[in-house]
Amino acid sequence: MYADNHIRRNTIADITKLKGERPVVSLTAYTAPMAARLDEHVDFLLVGDSLAMVLYGMESTIGVTLDMMIEHTKAVMRGSQKALVILDMPFGSYEKSKEDAFENAARVLRETGCAAVKMEGGTEMAPTIKYLVERNIPVMAHIGLRPQAVHVMGGYKTQGRDDDEWKPLLADAKAIEDAGAFSVVLEGVAEPLARRITQELNIITIGIGASAQCDGQILVTEDMLGQFPKNAKFVKRYAEIGDLSEEAVKAYAADVKARSFPAMEHTYAMRSKS
Ligand code: KIV
Repeated sequence: MYADNHIRRNTIADITKLKGERPVVSLTAYTAPMAARLDEHVDFLLVGDSLAMVLYGMESTIGVTLDMMIEHTKAVMRGSQKALVILDMPFGSYEKSKEDAFENAARVLRETGCAAVKMEGGTEMAPTIKYLVERNIPVMAHIGLRPQAVHVMGGYKTQGRDDDEWKPLLADAKAIEDAGAFSVVLEGVAEPLARRITQELNIITIGIGASAQCDGQILVTEDMLGQFPKNAKFVKRYAEIGDLSEEAVKAYAADVKARSFPAMEHTYAMRSKS
């Protein structure tokens, strides 16, 4: 019944046992072809609500719907075989009540086949996290800079650079762990605080703009591939895909105008009659 005749997908246990062993590697993915490229090299793929800006050109992540996230997660599941896949619960899909969050998260697991959800928030989200975990929905939390809270945070600001910001963030981290989250994303968190949270928690911390002291790292794939002209300070550009794409498109346009594309090797001839 449970014959294992295909590549085994990473489980939450595979990821959590990496704490103290080696850093967890993760990236965002929104489409099947990108997921296929990343699958071999990451422990988990996050279908981040950052797709709002990266794919749809929105100004923030606020405009993403659960339906959009589900369709992109289905694509990422189709494109990957090995990586654990996590869906980022979009704004408005989990804050109203824990029951509402359960309904939506259960729909996510049922319709996409992914293994876990991520949600932004600390102490205030702990009862919801507990409710979901008790009902078999693994949760990754997300504290520090919370893009869905951009309007109340007054912009995308690094957290924990002043002493008075430490106490609430440490309390958030503890509350999330006590609620049963298996991991927490620390976004835009000053290095000493990220280190302290990582030391104090038993669950894995995944950093983005939070230093190499975290238990693992995540970046938006298109950022690290250099798709956009500018990035946040914490992004390392491993390629210049944006420039490469533009050069390719320029060459194509020139070829078309010169009638040098399509060439004979791209053209179908008649079948020869024998
Ligand atoms: O939406 C996203 O891509 C994220 C990661 C950057 C952590 O939340």
